[in-house]
Amino acid sequence: MDIKIPLTKLWVHEPEAMGEAALTLGRVLRSGKFVLGGEGEAFEREFCRFLGAPSGVGVGSGTDAITLALLAGGIAEGDEVLVPDFAPGATASGVLATGATPVLVDVKLDFSLDLSGLQAALTSRTRAIVVVHLFGSMDDMTTLLAFARENGLWVVEDCAHAHGAMSWSEPEQQWRMAGTLGDAGAFSFYPTKNLGGIGDGGFCCCASPAIAEVLRELRQYGWRERDNSTRVGRNSRLDEIQAAILRDALPKLPFWNTRRQSLAALYLEFLEPAAHRAGVTLPKPQTGRRHVFHQFVIRSRERDALASQLASRGVGCGIHYPRPLSQQTAYRRFGANRSFPVSEQLAGEVLSLPMHPTLSVEAALEVVSILEAIWRNK
Ligand SMILES: Cc1ncc(COP(=O)(O)O)c(C=O)c1O
Repeated sequence: MDIKIPLTKLWVHEPEAMGEAALTLGRVLRSGKFVLGGEGEAFEREFCRFLGAPSGVGVGSGTDAITLALLAGGIAEGDEVLVPDFAPGATASGVLATGATPVLVDVKLDFSLDLSGLQAALTSRTRAIVVVHLFGSMDDMTTLLAFARENGLWVVEDCAHAHGAMSWSEPEQQWRMAGTLGDAGAFSFYPTKNLGGIGDGGFCCCASPAIAEVLRELRQYGWRERDNSTRVGRNSRLDEIQAAILRDALPKLPFWNTRRQSLAALYLEFLEPAAHRAGVTLPKPQTGRRHVFHQFVIRSRERDALASQLASRGVGCGIHYPRPLSQQTAYRRFGANRSFPVSEQLAGEVLSLPMHPTLSVEAALEVVSILEAIWRNK
């Protein structure tokens, strides 16, 4: 059967957005400036203002943002970087591109990093930690920052799923956006993200302008000024088309996130009784967090059967992620001789339901009734 309720949908395909995007493309084309121009500078200012970050730098992708954020902290070959085992390959490859070694750490059932696992993985070579705010909910930054400071670690927040996610900072008694608590926050603007462009793009928000200065050099050949490389850099720049499109999208992000939260509240309220009876776990909203539901992920022991029953009824769903890093050929060696029981369990149980700002209440309710029917007939 054709998929009638897709897992995700791009904002730019909405008729009004298409017209706006065409005008924006025209503006960039006429400017004749395609890389590192006014659109990129304006977007950096506007996204930093949104985040409440002191400074930030547009880069080529979310993966590059992780690499550059680590390089800016002096992470290099011979160093070890702690990474959650239940994360996409991009997170590990972002670490590997620095020359450092990712060290995989098991997670808890709520996808957050396990502190005892972090402690057990520490060696004299551990220099950094990459925290992934998976599916739009922030990890426990108070605990992780205390652990990192105690052990002199550089902290990079992988915010590819967490544009606008927040957590309550107990020491400061205020809400803080994902990306602004560590030394640097790495964002992806891949089209399906909560804030997505029409191609690849990324961003590093930085805890200080000094870190941003290093990043500016690193993203463009190590240049402090033209043709004078003061360090070995790369080419990873946010292009003007992406920056301009993202400037159009950014003002809509708060509304889109609120829309995702309302749909999640609907799923939670209407699915709870039937899910409970079927032994299915729904995402638990946590106090002190503002979840932005990049994905709405449920857990079922009969995940594969559930996924095919949903697909046969026209509901698109996804599996994020079917294999932990420790079970992927390229990354297996970074978890050798250790076990990852929780991330293996999660990989066998997770299922993402349709979630995007243009999902209608009617469609979400249809997903609910289809799930109820499947669970009733078990
Ligand atoms: C958690 C996470 N981190 C990093 C990335 C990498 O982002 P990009 O595809 O922009 O390189 C992704 C991409 O999907 C992601 O989901």
